[in-house]
Amino acid sequence: MRSSSIKSTILSMGISVPSKVLTNIELEKIVNTSDSWITERTGIKKRHILKDGELISSHAIKASKEALERAKLSPKEINLIICATLTPDYLMPSLGILIQEGVGAINAGAFDLSATCSGFLYALSIADQFIKNNPNWKILIVGAEALSRKINWEDRSTCVLFGDGAGAVVVGKSSSPDKGIIDFILGSSSDNWSLLTLKGGGSCFAPFDKRLPPEDYFIKMQGREVFKVAVKTMERVALNLLERNGLTTQDLDLLVPHQANLRIIDFLRERLKIPSEKVYVNIQKYGNTSAASIPIALYEAQEEGKLKDGILTLSVAFGGSFTFGGVLMRW
Ligand code: ACO
Repeated sequence: MRSSSIKSTILSMGISVPSKVLTNIELEKIVNTSDSWITERTGIKKRHILKDGELISSHAIKASKEALERAKLSPKEINLIICATLTPDYLMPSLGILIQEGVGAINAGAFDLSATCSGFLYALSIADQFIKNNPNWKILIVGAEALSRKINWEDRSTCVLFGDGAGAVVVGKSSSPDKGIIDFILGSSSDNWSLLTLKGGGSCFAPFDKRLPPEDYFIKMQGREVFKVAVKTMERVALNLLERNGLTTQDLDLLVPHQANLRIIDFLRERLKIPSEKVYVNIQKYGNTSAASIPIALYEAQEEGKLKDGILTLSVAFGGSFTFGGVLMRW
């Protein structure tokens, strides 16, 4: 358990997703799949996909502007921008720098963070450290993904799962020591990384290197194995976080997990013995948006009036590499 009189908290949020929607029925025309298979195995009904020429930076910037407006902050008041992404527009400049330019946060440092689906929680925990040392700082965190650009549209085992989008939050000092981030866990399990890879685009292979099979320029996953590790790991993270803070799952008001697969969320909920009304799910609308999934879910939970003053939330995530994390927070 951590004790500090200064707590950091999420001051405001914003989201933006592409207007183009790809439904399961439309996917049936692209690969050998069916709406019923996708719905039963994943809970996903549709996902938002970038149009040709549309960039994820435009959504990262739009989400950031909304979060800044809601916090009533000038972009000049932002001290740091952390962008969690696996799919920036470019390797250089970083997406963080494009967000800085797009919102006009001229006094901020900016960088990208690569921790796949756990990236937003990693970023939140980093921001928490900065706020403890610099209580007047305001930090913009963005989770943004253009996964449709890294999908092999001939691989039905992955192309039905992912979507594009961005979620942004402004983090600052909490007005009360009783509210804000209580504790977090970050972790990774390097022995499993080969189950989920995206090899093309790194420096191991030159662009169009003939030694790399074309499908390795896209996400490859051994879904069933990933599924099992995901459920076990997120359960362990949730129980550890609660236990070391003298809490049980019964104290939780809302679980806002990474939205990778409804069945993963359901297994987790059953193992943790949490009733379904205390679990936030929006995967049916967006699919897996990796680092963007938790900020988009938090935003929608707030819009639906579910993040009431004083409630206790837990977010847990799991993703490629493998990374995992959890953040316990009082609102
Ligand atoms: N449509 C129809 N059939 C399909 C599809 C599809 N889209 N995809 C696979 N199948 C078939 C398979 O070919 C297989 O057929 P077979 O039995 O004839 O061989 C059958 O369905 C079962 O395949 P499984 O892979 O065993 O299906 P499973 O029930 O495990 O579901 C899924 C697959 C949805 C991928 C699941 O394993 C999963 O969600 N895994 C975890 C994903 C995840 O959380 N990833 C981490 C985050 S991603 C990131 O970090 C970027």
